[in-house]
Amino acid sequence: MTFVSSISSCAEISRDEWLLDPVVAFLNHGSYGATPRTVLAEQDRWRARMERRPTHFMSEELPPALRAAAARLAAFVGSEAQDLVFVENATAGCNTVLASLHLAPGDEILVTDHDYAAVRKAAAHAAARAGARVVEAAVPFPLDDPAQIVAAVAGRLGPRTRLAILDHVTSPTAVIFPVRELTALCRAAGALVLIDGAHGPGMLALDVPSIGADWYTGNCHKWLMAPKGSGFLWASPQRQADTHPLVISHGFGLGFTAAFDWIGTRDPSAWLAVPAAIDFHQRLGGPALRERNAALAREQATRLAGIWNTARGAPDPLTGAMATVRLPLTDPATPERAQDLRRKLFADHRIEVPVTAFVGALWARISAHAYNRPADYERLAACFRRMG
Ligand SMILES: Cc1ncc(COP(=O)(O)O)c(C=O)c1O
Repeated sequence: MTFVSSISSCAEISRDEWLLDPVVAFLNHGSYGATPRTVLAEQDRWRARMERRPTHFMSEELPPALRAAAARLAAFVGSEAQDLVFVENATAGCNTVLASLHLAPGDEILVTDHDYAAVRKAAAHAAARAGARVVEAAVPFPLDDPAQIVAAVAGRLGPRTRLAILDHVTSPTAVIFPVRELTALCRAAGALVLIDGAHGPGMLALDVPSIGADWYTGNCHKWLMAPKGSGFLWASPQRQADTHPLVISHGFGLGFTAAFDWIGTRDPSAWLAVPAAIDFHQRLGGPALRERNAALAREQATRLAGIWNTARGAPDPLTGAMATVRLPLTDPATPERAQDLRRKLFADHRIEVPVTAFVGALWARISAHAYNRPADYERLAACFRRMG
């Protein structure tokens, strides 16, 4: 079976721009990203600069360089520079907000069953410490219509909802949530809103303030292809005085950006290389690359579902550069079986793709980025035909 793709293949970009193992069909950009050599080289240059004159770098060069990198990222996501700070990753961004909240006994944190599992654990921990509780909205899956997501969230909002945590693009199911509409709904009910946009930057056109949320956290190391450990947190001006870093250090009490810009001695090179990642993303087309990746993911998800005679998790309008397709298996849909399959796909077929057990079925979550070609998905299709 040969896939005939109508999607142009970013012909000018070679897979050699990345360190990716050439024998592996890498269909999991979504979990950890993949950083191109040129961006890693920029990170190395920052490290060399830091190690040449450590004191001068940390005290004189780093503060303005960090703010310049934050300003570049802020412009990329539509924000003001003073509203955006770097954090390690989206998990840290969510934990930062949870740790900054003053929950009272009986308060509720609303999450959905599509939210990233680690963030749901963080919410449960924050709630337990305060005698509050987590309320989980069950969003139907597979999905046809964003109204199903809105209805699920609306049904679990209540007078005690203090915070709603909503994924911009969901982790287990790869669905783009209608975050503007959801945010308006939650805010109208008196809840604060944190958007977990781990997959947002580089996958979606972002204008963060226009979403209307209180906080938005995102990763640059996923779809923007920056070095790992380059997340950010945006806070609305009204929330900044009460939003504190997980590590309190010299900048505490000196304002929002000062508090986050120094959290003790650490390697800031991933953050400083974010502008190089933005340059690379733009060199590959910026918005055109985003559209190409989404078109490839949608097209290949439809082909896989057709070949396997199964179904996609969500229709095109709710799908970006990641998509879920039900596997042609009747095995028990347990997390253990999903892990086994993921390992087997790598061990036997050299395919890296996440497999999840969700609402009684096993799903593959495919990703599409600049280095992916239709042949990558063809390998997945073929080996599942055999395994099925
Ligand atoms: C929605 C969502 N939130 C958070 C994360 C965690 O990202 P990180 O490990 O970079 O914090 C992920 C990772 O895939 C995710 O999909």
